[in-house]
Amino acid sequence: MNSTQSLTPVITIDGPTASGKGTVAHRVAQILGWSVLDSGALYRLSALACLEQGVDTTDQAAVAEVARNLDVEFKGPQILLNGRDVATRIRDEEVGNLASSIASQQPLRDALLARQRAFRCGPGLVADGRDMGTVVFPDAQLKIFLEADVAARAERRCKQLKEKGFSANLANLMKDMEARDARDRSRSNAPLCAASDANLIDSSNLSIDETVNAVLDLWSKHPASTISPRS
Ligand code: DC
Repeated sequence: MNSTQSLTPVITIDGPTASGKGTVAHRVAQILGWSVLDSGALYRLSALACLEQGVDTTDQAAVAEVARNLDVEFKGPQILLNGRDVATRIRDEEVGNLASSIASQQPLRDALLARQRAFRCGPGLVADGRDMGTVVFPDAQLKIFLEADVAARAERRCKQLKEKGFSANLANLMKDMEARDARDRSRSNAPLCAASDANLIDSSNLSIDETVNAVLDLWSKHPASTISPRS
């Protein structure tokens, strides 16, 4: 990391799947005029590339090699893998479940580390994922851990999938989500957990706007913030 990167402010938003962190991260970044890192997309892209290349995903060195060679471009709402927009494809459950499973592999996590840190450039970065505050940006100026109970998250994911034209079953989604949470929380490499200096926000009963405001409120009180205190 160079000195400009370490001076660039970062807000990390970690949390379980479908806690709303992606939407909240994008809105906060948009309001502040900062860039955004959707780190889960990098795990999903690695999973999709493995599927498409027929890579044996138990071969950790091969999976890491796929991640190192990913040809990815984030272009507004588009996510280009080898020039092809896969933004919708990487959101499906098959890719998400494989991403969660390979995410426990340390060689893959190492392969993605520099790629994630390279997103830290001025005027600021909002980074969303599982280990943004604990591993990737431990010196972040503001760390958020966004929680929501599993029923609220499954309902949100169900709605999202249906809006995107996928079929979705609430009971199955809840079961998958519980399994994915358990995997993400119990793995030995960078498990999903709140950094000791993270601010916990439970969004089960909050709208997206209320959650975004809670994050901006915390940021406005930070000494590095240039936005006015909100209350
Ligand atoms: O946030 P998401 O659901 O798009 O992430 C997909 C998977 O990637 C998730 O199950 C765990 C993994 N992941 C991770 O291990 N570390 C991150 N920083 C982001 C995602």
